[in-house]
Amino acid sequence: MSSVKFYQQENQVPLEMHKVRVVQKLNLLPVEERLHAIQEAGNNTFLLQNKDIYLDMITDSGVNAMSDMQVAAMSIADDSYAGSETWNRAKAAIHEVFGVDNVLPAHQGRAAENILAEAFVKPGSVALMNFHFTTTKAHITRLGGEVVELVHKKGLKPQSDDPFKGDFDLKALNKAIDEYTPERISFVRVEAGTNLIGGQPVSLENMLAVTDICHDKGVISVLDASLLQDNVYFMKTREPRCKYMETKEIYHLLASHFDIIYFSARKLGFSRGGFIISSDPKWTNQMMEFVPLYEGFLTYGGMEVRSIEAAAQGLLESLDMEYISQGPEFIEYLVKELDDYGVPVVKPAGGLGAHLNCSEIVPKLPHDQYPAAAVGAALYIAGGVRGMERGTVSEQREPDGTERFAELELLRLAVPRRVFTLSQIKYCADRVKWVWDNREIIGGLEWTNEPKVLRFFFGRMKEIGYWQEELVKKFRADFGDSL
Ligand SMILES: Cc1ncc(COP(=O)(O)O)c(C=O)c1O
Repeated sequence: MSSVKFYQQENQVPLEMHKVRVVQKLNLLPVEERLHAIQEAGNNTFLLQNKDIYLDMITDSGVNAMSDMQVAAMSIADDSYAGSETWNRAKAAIHEVFGVDNVLPAHQGRAAENILAEAFVKPGSVALMNFHFTTTKAHITRLGGEVVELVHKKGLKPQSDDPFKGDFDLKALNKAIDEYTPERISFVRVEAGTNLIGGQPVSLENMLAVTDICHDKGVISVLDASLLQDNVYFMKTREPRCKYMETKEIYHLLASHFDIIYFSARKLGFSRGGFIISSDPKWTNQMMEFVPLYEGFLTYGGMEVRSIEAAAQGLLESLDMEYISQGPEFIEYLVKELDDYGVPVVKPAGGLGAHLNCSEIVPKLPHDQYPAAAVGAALYIAGGVRGMERGTVSEQREPDGTERFAELELLRLAVPRRVFTLSQIKYCADRVKWVWDNREIIGGLEWTNEPKVLRFFFGRMKEIGYWQEELVKKFRADFGDSL
């Protein structure tokens, strides 16, 4: 965004340094139809149809707005199976942003995780990380590996003013490497902009300390850079040593310290696809054979060439503070609106989206009635806003079938980059406030169909009782015939 000061301070809002030139019509159904739609979707917001959604805040992945430069780049895509110019341009962009030349393609972030896991995870091995991401963990455990989370305990405190809640607990990392022994450790993974604890960043100092520990002890260090763009914004604005560093300097420094960096270009790159990079060819060589096996030839890796062109340009735009600040500043605005009203929301504002703390919104609902999914259904009914459950539904059951209760029951309201206007963010805040004021009505959910793997994607649930019909009645009483 910009550092433009408004004449009347009370009118100060985040000011976009871009304008909208292509628009998409949105649809807001009447509340009765919203009730029908969420019930048809088994109370799983993933199963809603986009035509039934007013604000799609389920994810920031693959739904960011492209720039004019990205659209232009797509028109020169060189479509060939092997050795396309598009691939060379992508490599050049990665060289510019990260300063490295060893690059493997994958069709998206989780495909990069699959390759990483295939190359380094063995049965009985352990991957240490600040916090897991759903697909990362699924790939590791599928191959018989174990995930151990070592986020600093400040990260699990929903409300605080700590600027870097995604930081690794360095003492615990040292201890874990010694106890498990370096031979058993597949890799140590730092997730930038830690997704499941509220898009919380990791400081540069902490990331570099992790890589130092890994180098000293001889274990592989990996950076999941999918959310690095937001993380770099927070480093620049919250970490004194980064204030005067160029964004590019930060990206380069990280790439020179981590053994392997992978990312989803659906996020970092404003496009589609995924990449795995390294400053040392020995790591990419170890993973290379899996790319043609699972993804496609080494110069497209399952990506469509136009997406590669868009990602290459999008990566260059990830260096531009005027672009990369838009998401975090809108999120901060939304978080402040909600917090000022008393809605429990993860603080400080992170990247990716605002995160409602559902354990406090519906404190009487136990984990196994899925408070975050229930609040997600309520918010869709209230305003056609689609969020994503990031609580117990997003966990995997233990091998013995018992529920693994989430540390945090969050409803994530993602803010795709460069997509929404500020009035839409204000509308979202308004409907969340209404849900908060009517929280006593919200009841629990129970499974009607629970898949074994990644159940949050396809699982179906139903309301316990008739609280959703009650909520619709209350909406009509409060809003009359408004949509
Ligand atoms: C931190 C992180 N890693 C990996 C992924 C997987 O990326 P993709 O959705 O492109 O498969 C995501 C997606 O949300 C993510 O947030």
